[in-house]
Amino acid sequence: MSSYFITFEGPEGSGKSTQAALLADALRSIGLLTRLTREPGGDPVSEQIRKILLDSPDDSITNRAELFLYLAARAQHVENIIRPNLKKGAIVICARYIDSTVAYQGWGGGLSVDMIRTLNNAATGGLIPDITFLMDIDAETGLKRQQDWNRMERKGLDYHARVREGFLAEAKLYPERIKVLDAAQDIDFIHRQVLHYVAEKLKIAV
Ligand code: TMP
Repeated sequence: MSSYFITFEGPEGSGKSTQAALLADALRSIGLLTRLTREPGGDPVSEQIRKILLDSPDDSITNRAELFLYLAARAQHVENIIRPNLKKGAIVICARYIDSTVAYQGWGGGLSVDMIRTLNNAATGGLIPDITFLMDIDAETGLKRQQDWNRMERKGLDYHARVREGFLAEAKLYPERIKVLDAAQDIDFIHRQVLHYVAEKLKIAV
């Protein structure tokens, strides 16, 4: 079994962390070496950057500084956690990665998507997921599912509607990599779809 890199993406309240955890449990239960992680975070320094990004007061971080904080957290995470685990032959499952930066800082925050692609590439050394599941949900429904909104969640409905549009545009650009799922469906039903897709790609029985 060779290593594999799977990411889950989506707007707020799309259930991606739940699905990432369910997939990790399912793969572990059949004996596959699996590492579950998240962005921003997944490494002690990246988790500290996460706190700055999510817990700082509204309007305290400029759009460009925000972009570089996400990228710094990612560079650290890729080098210290994701790549070493892939090298060990693990299946790495990550909640959020490069597409979130395009959708949030690009489509949401209005920064150049081309610039973000270049910087994502620099931060990751060109590491692209094998499969990305996009958990699609409309901004209003997703935000309503959340409690205690953090700095990103408080950016407003228009911002989050653009984020969703951004994710869907990425899925159109990269249909081979990004599989869109309807996040309004039942958790178990989505999990079965995810598992079926991964099993087919990895050529394993689940
Ligand atoms: P979450 O992981 O709990 O969803 O929270 C992370 C927040 O950070 C979420 O609002 C999405 C946002 N985010 C970005 O804006 N850009 C990024 O590159 C990443 C990874 C996350």
